[in-house]
Amino acid sequence: MMNFIAKPLINLLVEGRLKMPLRKRRCELITPAVNRGMIEKSSDLPVDQIILDLEDSVVEERKKEARHNAIAAFNELCWGGKIRSVRINSVRSPWCYHDILEIVKGAGNNLDTLIIPKVKGAQDLYFIDLFLSQLETEIGMDCKVGIECMIEQPEAVEYIRDIVFSTSRLEALIFGAADFAAAMGIPILDLSKIDEESKYPGHRWHYVLNQMAVTGRVANLQLIGGSFPGYDNDGIKNYRLEAEYEKALGFDGKWAIHPNQVSVATEVFTPSDKIIEQARKLKNAFNEAVEKGLGAIVFDGQMVDYATIEVAERILVRQE
Ligand code: GLV
Ligand code: MG
Repeated sequence: MMNFIAKPLINLLVEGRLKMPLRKRRCELITPAVNRGMIEKSSDLPVDQIILDLEDSVVEERKKEARHNAIAAFNELCWGGKIRSVRINSVRSPWCYHDILEIVKGAGNNLDTLIIPKVKGAQDLYFIDLFLSQLETEIGMDCKVGIECMIEQPEAVEYIRDIVFSTSRLEALIFGAADFAAAMGIPILDLSKIDEESKYPGHRWHYVLNQMAVTGRVANLQLIGGSFPGYDNDGIKNYRLEAEYEKALGFDGKWAIHPNQVSVATEVFTPSDKIIEQARKLKNAFNEAVEKGLGAIVFDGQMVDYATIEVAERILVRQE
């Protein structure tokens, strides 16, 4: 008899959609590459990804120092399986060329991805992709450096369909709330106060986040929620709320800019024991039904069919 049971799983594998959660990115912690103390501390924190920043948290005079610190940190410290990334300066800045050259030559296979800020269109990523290909060949690197693209300019939202298919190196889209607010002229100085000042009746980032979610999924990319300035008291409550909104739209993780945010992001983007148990039971009940020739069943008082099983499969592949 033909095995119908695995159909949803097979659909996902054929479409490549189950590849997506292989690299966990529930929490991406970003740290200024000029702060050696914070870099050392980050290497011990339980995050999925560490980003050493050469861009907006580093003043012009210290860009070179930041590069050297990032290289030393990836070559000398133990990162325990975390994804190791560097946020370089934008392709329109005077530092980008040397950031890529020096970081890739210096850290080589100890570097997993480059985070590209202030992207305005696919052309930015073509440049990075070609540059990386030449460098990798020249220095004989074993693996390709991945790319994560920040969506924080109105142009990136407008041209997102070209951006997501610009290079096979692209692994994730990351929202940059602060730069987006600045570029749009949104007059709110403290972005940790969710919608209190703007009086806008909807969630202010909904359009961009949903655009990222839908277009990013089409290209099989991971979706990462943006930086959030609050990390204490109400700030951390609102951070959790924003992470929950992002999860509800299908996002995979969130940036953290402070150690207090790490456990919150990780918890929000890890399926709870309860939902894993429900997903397992649902899958088992459905598989039994399919064996009997039924494609829709009543489970826990609701009608479920193959679509719900896909949701269950996705929850189960995300568990640790
Ligand atoms: C991060 O880079 C941001 O602009 O929010
Ligand atoms: Mg930014």
